Amino acid sequence: KTRIIDIESLDEAGEKELQAVAALIKNGETVVFPTETVYGLGANAFDPEAVKKIFVAKGRPNDNPLIVHISEIAQVEPLVAEIPKKAIKLMEVFWPGPLTLIMKKSARIPDEVSAGLDTVGIRFPDHPIARAFIKMSGCPIAAPSANRSGRPSPTQGKHVLEDLDGRVAAIILSADTEIGLESTVIDMTVEPPVVLRPGDVTVAELREVLGEVAVSSNVTKNVVPEKVSSPGMKYTHYSPKGEMVVVKGTKKEISEKINNAVARYRGKPMTVGILASDETMGCYHEGFIISLGSQKDPREMAKNLFSRLRTFDELGVERIFAEDIPLNNETLALINRLYKAAGYTFI
Ligand code: TXA
Ligand code: MG
Repeated sequence: KTRIIDIESLDEAGEKELQAVAALIKNGETVVFPTETVYGLGANAFDPEAVKKIFVAKGRPNDNPLIVHISEIAQVEPLVAEIPKKAIKLMEVFWPGPLTLIMKKSARIPDEVSAGLDTVGIRFPDHPIARAFIKMSGCPIAAPSANRSGRPSPTQGKHVLEDLDGRVAAIILSADTEIGLESTVIDMTVEPPVVLRPGDVTVAELREVLGEVAVSSNVTKNVVPEKVSSPGMKYTHYSPKGEMVVVKGTKKEISEKINNAVARYRGKPMTVGILASDETMGCYHEGFIISLGSQKDPREMAKNLFSRLRTFDELGVERIFAEDIPLNNETLALINRLYKAAGYTFI
């Protein structure tokens, strides 16, 4: 009963199909659409009943606010109480793009979207189909990532079908998403503004435009090298089904630790996986060895992360050893998601 359309480019036929599913949004239904970050599960942001359907489809309790997606900057004004000067600067430089701005909300934003907060996150995605779809819908679209609660965000059409076929009114399939990690989220209601979630727009790029920018301790505390906790006490975000641990140390130490750990499962009925890189794959000889991409290209690794985690699931891998990744401005978002997926467990 889910209507599924596949649009690679916006020709005349594609536009017609897109019009039809945009009409579903007007009727209070849910539609999955591609963006440059990950697929989103959208509904009319002004319609509380429609927004409730998002939470039912995802199977998540409604305590997490949703990002409101727009297709032109002029749509911001009615959604917020005021637009801070610094927010305007960021819009000019980074929109359309993978950046979500948190601002004080107006009365037009229902509680179902803001989860009772007095703020709202707004994003203008840079994806031709997302932009056309939002425009045709004629309203701002509230959308979280289009995964079932607790699964990695969907970066490919098949991930969306796995998670949401039969649970939404329509799904718009398109090419794999370019970035593969969710947008950078920055809180513009405080001074200096605070990055709440790292993403493809980096902290250094934000500082170039704004000067001082803080990073939430929720992000930074996760990258403190010494933090070790025991496996099992997992956070539920982005988890593969198998239990994942991040392996720290020098290059040599990492491969030795992983080879030793994997050897302990030899002859046991436990399926083991290794998340490595193009450069290090050759260090391993047992278990399912999967590369995230080349260490020389952190963006490629970021783009691949969520789909690789799903691949481990498909292979039935129960224990995953993931190589740690050196921290810098370009890898912060990737590391943030990798550590979350591992429930912040390290060896
Ligand atoms: O790239 C993305 O941002 C994707 C695509 C679909 O646009 N969307 C996405 O939505 O990742 P979601 O719901 O999976 O993540 C939204 C994040 C959550 O961490 C949420 O807590 C935060 O943004 N957020 C949303 N509104 C907020 C607000 N008013 N204050 C603080 N955080 C907010
Ligand atoms: Mg999400």
